[in-house]
Amino acid sequence: MGFSTRAVHAGEEPCPTTGAHVTPIYQTSTFVLAGKIPRYFYTRHGNPTHAVLEEKMKILEGGGSALATASGMAALLTVMLTSLEKGDKVLSSEAIYGGTYNMLKFLLPKFGVEPIFIDMRDPANVKRTLDQETKVRIVFFETPANPTLDIIDIEKISRVARDAGADVVVDNTLMTPYYQRPLELGADIVVYSATKYLSGHGDTLGGIVVGKEEFITEARRILAVTGSVISPFNAWLIIRGLKTLSVRMEKHSENAMKVARFLDSHPKVRRVLYPGLSTHPQYKLARQQMRGFGGMVAFEIDGDTGDVYEVLEGLKLCRCAVSLGDVSTLIEHPASMTHRSIPEEERVRIGITEGLMRISVGIEDADDVIADLNQALSLLS
Ligand SMILES: Cc1ncc(COP(=O)(O)O)c(C=O)c1O
Repeated sequence: MGFSTRAVHAGEEPCPTTGAHVTPIYQTSTFVLAGKIPRYFYTRHGNPTHAVLEEKMKILEGGGSALATASGMAALLTVMLTSLEKGDKVLSSEAIYGGTYNMLKFLLPKFGVEPIFIDMRDPANVKRTLDQETKVRIVFFETPANPTLDIIDIEKISRVARDAGADVVVDNTLMTPYYQRPLELGADIVVYSATKYLSGHGDTLGGIVVGKEEFITEARRILAVTGSVISPFNAWLIIRGLKTLSVRMEKHSENAMKVARFLDSHPKVRRVLYPGLSTHPQYKLARQQMRGFGGMVAFEIDGDTGDVYEVLEGLKLCRCAVSLGDVSTLIEHPASMTHRSIPEEERVRIGITEGLMRISVGIEDADDVIADLNQALSLLS
């Protein structure tokens, strides 16, 4: 069956007891035991609402198994704790979400894990580093990257990493399984902040890990120890969000293309980063590994932080907020918001300049979003 049909139906059956058509929220911490330990006995170890979300994501991603977590960060940390031991290294793309950077740079070294950050746009760079280093267990990247929208070649890097005995972990938050399926391109593990497009309405936190069954079984054991499990209600919101994922992604993508074209022609805008523009440096690769270009656009104005804040404060419809993948258009300033933890020198080198803004284009009428951006940009002298 097609993706949209699976998104609506996969993992869900009418309730055998009541006939309820929609999956119930099993809002319970514990389950009554009748002598032996059944499948569900305590929500930290599993819950029927979580199981429906996990089954749906497994089917949409085409993976062996899926695990739901409390947030995207919980999903990423669970993967790291499952895969790594003291003395291991993580090879990471340098253009990643600030929270993930924090985890790799500051938290994992406390436990003897060393991060190495490199530019992964050229797979030869990854091969060179893997040839020089020992004990690299994970090769991690986001593609497209948040917020630079760099595209990284999943297939080539997976091949290089496999030869070196490392697992490839891809954060697919910006694309979702509707537009990009890393496992089919050779990656080992896919991670999501389900807070974003998967739930889609800006009303919940959640995370998902998809990978081979043995890996997910071990990750589930780790998650039960750390306790970063999702609540049944949040899992239910993500199940509901997934049912409309394909229609929302199409609209986000269509609107983002219009917004990117508008910004590209605006005299106050220095450059626009959107994988769907033929001017994007990796446009060809984007077309090859993604089925659509998504809803994220980054653009740089000719100005500094003060000018960026003037634009942000002038917006009337688009909301200045971190996060992304919401039905509403959200706009932010990575250098002072989502990516402020990355030291300035590194930030500038990877393209997160003072004048860069990131926009998560919503599903409103594109003309209204464009008119709002236009009036706010006109405030710049
Ligand atoms: C690409 C990406 N990965 C992971 C995360 C972390 O997700 P969460 O906020 O759900 O913990 C974010 C959050 O913004 C993100 O943008």
